[in-house]
Amino acid sequence: MAPTNICCIGAGYVGGPTCSVIALKGGDQVKVTVVDINQKRIAAWNSDELPIYEPGLDEVVQQCRGKNLFFSTDVAGAIKAADLIFVSVNTPTKLYGLGKGSAADVKYIESCARAIAEHSEGPKIVIEKSTVPARTAETLDRILRANCKPGITFEILSNPEFLAEGTAISDLMSPDRVLIGGSTTPEGQKAIQALSAVYEHWVPKDRIITTNTWSSELSKLAANAFLAQRISSINAMSAICEATEADVSEVARAIGKDSRLGAKFLQASVGFGGSCFQKDILNLVYLADSLNLHEVADYWRQVVILNDWQERRFSTRIIKALFNTVSSKKICILGFAFKKNTGDTRESAAIYVCQHLMDEGAQLAIYDPKVKAEQIDLDLKSVSQGQEDRVDRLVTVHSDPYEAMDGAHAVAVLTEWDEFKTYDFAKVYATMPKPAFLFDGRNILDHAALRQMGFEIEAIGKKIH
Ligand code: NAI
Repeated sequence: MAPTNICCIGAGYVGGPTCSVIALKGGDQVKVTVVDINQKRIAAWNSDELPIYEPGLDEVVQQCRGKNLFFSTDVAGAIKAADLIFVSVNTPTKLYGLGKGSAADVKYIESCARAIAEHSEGPKIVIEKSTVPARTAETLDRILRANCKPGITFEILSNPEFLAEGTAISDLMSPDRVLIGGSTTPEGQKAIQALSAVYEHWVPKDRIITTNTWSSELSKLAANAFLAQRISSINAMSAICEATEADVSEVARAIGKDSRLGAKFLQASVGFGGSCFQKDILNLVYLADSLNLHEVADYWRQVVILNDWQERRFSTRIIKALFNTVSSKKICILGFAFKKNTGDTRESAAIYVCQHLMDEGAQLAIYDPKVKAEQIDLDLKSVSQGQEDRVDRLVTVHSDPYEAMDGAHAVAVLTEWDEFKTYDFAKVYATMPKPAFLFDGRNILDHAALRQMGFEIEAIGKKIH
């Protein structure tokens, strides 16, 4: 039997890893082509230096690329050849017009639909992999039907992705669940079966959940909203802990033992980041507002407000501890990615903490094991509108952490990279002006040992005596 021909439009953090695992697990039963309009990104996928860092990804790509996994800019050709088309393009928060600041921008989804309609010469199953507002499948359906060649039929499925960056490959290899939503018609059910068969190459059938299209679309927004809410909830507790001498790690341990709550995602921090949480909650907020459910919108909006506040609270603590002035003081920033094991900086808390510190004239020495200097420059300039030159004046990016920390007034940990725990802080302490400050925005360091060395320590949700 001929292999199932799969095309994925969008070679990003989701499309690349997802299709690599589909190719690995599907073997000679599938042929997967990942396409993108970004030539540089495709060239990187075809090189030894992949465009994204994910533990385990290199090995999977090396095993499959050129055999049953291909990366290409030939969008039209891949659409023509495919039976199944994943749409895995970006759906950022709209920065203009109606819904500016909260609605998801689905223009890239729409242009995919138009391309699929234009180039399809036979029936296709079109799969929404991107996170989209509820009922986007209806938009896709209307565009496809209005523009397709006569006699061509489409079935649209929703198959949101639940992988987390940093653990994408293991999440894809053994997912908690795969969700497939489709129409309740016989054709819709047949399409669901066709997509399910792709996952059944490695995912046990009882982990493949099928629903109607709208439940599937909304479940992705709901999952991210619930996850982010948990972080904002524990971060809200961290502020109360700091004011009462309770310790947020102890509180998290105590409440996490409740089996109804569970222990995961209770780590207080400088705030959540990443391209999804804020965007998807705002997407939900917009949906609720447009359904006239304003109390529902306000409820979820508060999760984002609390996160912004947590970031600002952290930078304010740094400034206050340093005697209310950080102007011209060297502050070392350890970690710029939004979490460990990724080089992704989208919506990273580090960007906003650095922005506040730059507003106060601090000299920032930044080190991150996986983020490139150009990316840091770009991110900090994007929050310095009109005064981009301050980034050149105030920021240096280092490839050696000891160089970044050398002689700093303060060190601030903003990402929970494991390597930070292994540093020789006694050696660093010797180079720093006194009092030497350490701000642990992720609560990962050994505070008692550092205190012994002489550091003044501030952590999240606890007093370090
Ligand atoms: P990304 O920005 O890394 O990748 C999207 C890619 O689509 C880009 O390379 C872009 O050039 C390409 N693209 C845009 N329009 C195109 C077109 N018309 N034709 C061909 N290529 C086109 O985005 P990422 O992070 O992969 O996210 C994709 C979707 O998956 C989003 O909706 C996101 O919300 C969702 N998602 C993201 C997760 C994550 O951890 N990043 C996790 C789960 C879902």
